[in-house]
Amino acid sequence: MAEYKPVIIQTNSETEFADKAAQLLWEQLVELDEPLVTLPTGSTPAGLYQVLLERYGDQSNIWEQIRYLALDEYIGLPEDDRRLFQNWLARDILDPAGVPARRRITFNSMADNPAQEADAMEDWIAENGPIDIAVLGLGGNGHIAFNEPGCSFDSAARVITLAPETRQANAAYWGGLEHVPEQAYTLGLKTLARAKQILLLVSGAHKADILDRTLNGPISQDVPASFLRTMPNVTVIMDDAAKK
Ligand code: PGA
Repeated sequence: MAEYKPVIIQTNSETEFADKAAQLLWEQLVELDEPLVTLPTGSTPAGLYQVLLERYGDQSNIWEQIRYLALDEYIGLPEDDRRLFQNWLARDILDPAGVPARRRITFNSMADNPAQEADAMEDWIAENGPIDIAVLGLGGNGHIAFNEPGCSFDSAARVITLAPETRQANAAYWGGLEHVPEQAYTLGLKTLARAKQILLLVSGAHKADILDRTLNGPISQDVPASFLRTMPNVTVIMDDAAKK
């Protein structure tokens, strides 16, 4: 397996982190025609979305041609549930920026047959992809999207059972573990590996250990994000706090 060194952009504050991430992402977006882009949920990208809106929110000609692709999604929640990642991103960026509803490619949380829904997503990407820019967050357990430790590097979009530590981390968003679904959809590692560009966002001291394992530890299923080192086109944007 060939190994590559991701480009690392280190920033010295939360503000600079959001600023650099927004600048880098925007520079790439404006170069592309109908870019297919994934955007993460979580606390890490909140500043990025704010800066994007403040700085480029009026560039409707760009936003209107972006194709937003879901990275992951909870299973079993109704379409107006605020916990749905598609609704979270709608609130934080897609609605205020004006990304048209028809250009949002999402998982149906209430699908009768979730496995089939995941397969249909993989088929859609095969037909309409590849992903131009995969913007990713890093889970405290090393997941990217919801590819949890132990998952295959060869994985496609699929249904997964959330790891206990992921449910625990997500409990902070929704006021308790009982509000966090047990199952979710995720794009696979193989799906993400075909992206033309990958931007991994990592901020905060609580991510320092896992980022160090991602960048310097063995490339292993124990840390799914370490798989990014098998790809030639990865940029990591981090803040000082995330440095070990
Ligand atoms: P966080 O989530 O940004 O809230 O830390 C990251 C993730 O689980 O991908």
